[in-house]
Amino acid sequence: MISRQSIDAVINASAIDEVVGDYIALKKRGANLLGRCPFHDEKTPSFTVSPSKGIYKCFGCGKAGNSVSFLMEHDSLSFADAIRKLASKYNIVLEEDNAVNSEAYNEQQRKREALLIALEFAKKYFVEQLYTEEGKRVGDSYFRERGFTKQTIDDFDLGYSPQAWDSLVKAATSQQFNLDHFVEAGLIKQREDGGYFDLFRHRVIFPIHDLTGKVIAFGGRQLVKDEKSPKYLNSPETEVYHKSHVLYGIFQSKKTIKQVNNCYLVEGYTDVISLHQAEVKNVVASSGTSLTEGQIRLVKRFTDNVTVLYDGDAAGIKASLRGIDLLLEQGLNVRCVSFPDGEDPDSYCQKLGSVDFKLFLEQEQKDFILFKADLLMQGIGNDPIKKTEVLKQLLQSIALIPDALKRSAYARECSRIMDADEKLLLVEIAKIRKQKHVVDDQVLPTDVVEILQMPTQLPDTSVYHGGEEQEKNLIRLLIQSGHKPFQEGTKVSDFIFKELNEDDALQIEHPLYNKILQAVKDQLNSELQMDEQFFVNHEDESIRQLAADLLTDFFELSPAWSDNGIFIKTEKENYINDLQSLFLFLKKNKIEKMIQNNLDEMAKSELEQEQKEQLLHYHIQLIEVRNAISEILGSTMN
Ligand code: UTP
Ligand code: MN
Repeated sequence: MISRQSIDAVINASAIDEVVGDYIALKKRGANLLGRCPFHDEKTPSFTVSPSKGIYKCFGCGKAGNSVSFLMEHDSLSFADAIRKLASKYNIVLEEDNAVNSEAYNEQQRKREALLIALEFAKKYFVEQLYTEEGKRVGDSYFRERGFTKQTIDDFDLGYSPQAWDSLVKAATSQQFNLDHFVEAGLIKQREDGGYFDLFRHRVIFPIHDLTGKVIAFGGRQLVKDEKSPKYLNSPETEVYHKSHVLYGIFQSKKTIKQVNNCYLVEGYTDVISLHQAEVKNVVASSGTSLTEGQIRLVKRFTDNVTVLYDGDAAGIKASLRGIDLLLEQGLNVRCVSFPDGEDPDSYCQKLGSVDFKLFLEQEQKDFILFKADLLMQGIGNDPIKKTEVLKQLLQSIALIPDALKRSAYARECSRIMDADEKLLLVEIAKIRKQKHVVDDQVLPTDVVEILQMPTQLPDTSVYHGGEEQEKNLIRLLIQSGHKPFQEGTKVSDFIFKELNEDDALQIEHPLYNKILQAVKDQLNSELQMDEQFFVNHEDESIRQLAADLLTDFFELSPAWSDNGIFIKTEKENYINDLQSLFLFLKKNKIEKMIQNNLDEMAKSELEQEQKEQLLHYHIQLIEVRNAISEILGSTMN
C-alpha cells in the first residue's frame, strides 16, 4: 500500500502536460495544448490537455482523465504502478509497505534513489569541508569576502571541495559507497588505470536543489584563475537533473514567490544568493542556459508575475530578449530592470545594501513593452523606417500574449509610447496572430472547429434541455463550484443538498451522478477542499473520468478559444446565477410532470363532479406556478 500522503504528493507534483508530453508532441492552443491521440488512430489532432486543470480529453475517442489515468491507460498500469512511475519522474520517495513490491517499481527507480543518496552524501561532505583547516582558510574565507553570512551559507548548503585529487573518492569509499553512482552524477571519474579522481577540486560548491529541497546537482567555482578549466563547473544531465526543468534557488524562494506574487529572474548562483541575503527572497536563476519552457512552467506554479533582472550592455540584453517573448507566450506578466554598466544584480546589491537595492528595483522596473521600446529606440533618433522596424518588433511580442484583453491593453500602451494609431496596431497584431494560426487551424478536426464556432450562436437556455442534460449540469456545477460560497456562510454544495433533500421529486436518477453526490456527502464534514481537483484526482476511476469529461466540454474550453475573439461567459463566473436557474428548470420539469399526471387523472371517466372540480383547481394552481417559474427563467435567461 502506498500512503495517502504519498499519493497526494505525487498528484500535486505531476504536471499533465509534462506527463503526456513524454509520449506525444503537444502544440499550444490558447491556454490548452493539442496533440494526436495516443489511444486511437487519427490524422488530425483532437487530444486536448489542460495544464491548469491537470486533465486531458480526446474529442475523437472521448478518453479523458488526469496524469494517473493517462499512465494507467497508456502503459496498462495499475493505479499503484502509475503512481510509482510518476513518483520516479518527480523524484518523490513513496511511503509504502514493503510487502507489496511491484515489477514496475524497477531498476530505474532504484538507480534514481541511489543517485540521490550519492548526491546527498556529497553535499554533506562538501559542507563539512568548509570547517576543516583548509576549508576555513580557502572556502569559507572566499564566501566571507563575497559578503555571504553564516546564515546564507547554511541556507544554500554552500560547501568546499579540497585541492587534493581524490578526497571525495576516499570519503565515499570509506563509507562503502558504490562509486558508479558518483561517476554517474559527474562528481568523480575513472582513470585508465582503474583508479578514481574527483572532478570538483579546489572549488567552492553551490548545491542545486529541486523543488522539494533534495540536492540534484552542483555548481563549483574555481578559486584561482586557471584558463585551462572553466570558472564554473556544473554537473552533467543525469536521471535526476534535467537542466531545462530546474531553476537555481526555487526551493529557497518558492514560499516568498507565492507570498509576494512575483518572481525575480537573474542569471547566476551568486545573484540569487546576494539578493536572498538582502531580503529579496523571491529570486531564481536559470543558471547559464537561456530560459526554457520547462523553467517557466516551474515559475508559473507559484506566480504569473516575473521581473527579469538584466545585467550587461544593451547588445547583450538585446540578444536575450527572446526570453521575454517566451515568458509572454506562456501568459506571464513581465517587467524588466537593467543595471548600470559593469554591475550585475549580485555586485550592485552588495554595493547598495538591502534598503537602497530594493528601492532601486522598485524605481527602475519597467513593463516589458516600455523596456523593449527604450532599448530598441536607443540611437535611432527620428528615423521613420527604423522606428517602424522597432514598432514591428514590439507588436511581434504583444501578439504572443494569450490573453486578448491584455493584448489590447498593450496595444494601447504601445500606441502611446510610439505615437502610433491604436486601431492600426490592433489590426497588425491580429494579422500576426492570424499568420501564426493559419497553420494551426488546418490541423484542427472539423468537430473541434464546430465547437469553436458554436458558442456565439448558442442562447444560454440551450444548456438546459432534457432531464439528463440538467442532471449533468447540476453535477458539473457541483464539481466546478461546490466548494465556493453560496449565501451567508453556506457553500454551493450545501445549497444543492438542501434543495435535493427538501424536494423528493428532484431526485437525481443517473447512477454515476448519484455516486458523485454520495462522494461529496461523505466528505461534507471533513476539512478536504472539494474543488475541481478533488474530483479530477478522485480514487474512483469513474469519477475521475466523468470530472475530466465535464470540465473539458465546450463551456469550459471556451475561454481558451477567446483567441478567435469569441468571448463566452463561463459557468465559473456565473455559478450562483446558473445554480438558481438550474434548480428552477428542475422544478419546472417536475411541475410539468405533475401537470401531466393531473391531466391523466382528470381524464378518468369514473370521477365525481366534486373530484373533477378539485383536480381542475389543482391544475390551475400548477399552471400558475409553472408560468411564474417560466417568467423568472425568461427574464434571467435574456
Ligand atoms: P560571474 O562571472 O559574475 O561570476 O557570473 P562570479 O562568481 O560573480 O565572478 P566575478 O567575481 O564577478 O568575476 C555570474 C553567474 O553566472 C554563472 C554563475 O551562476 C555565476 O554566479 N556562470 C558564470 C556560470 O554558470 N559559468 C561561468 O563560467 C560563469
Ligand atoms: Mn559576478
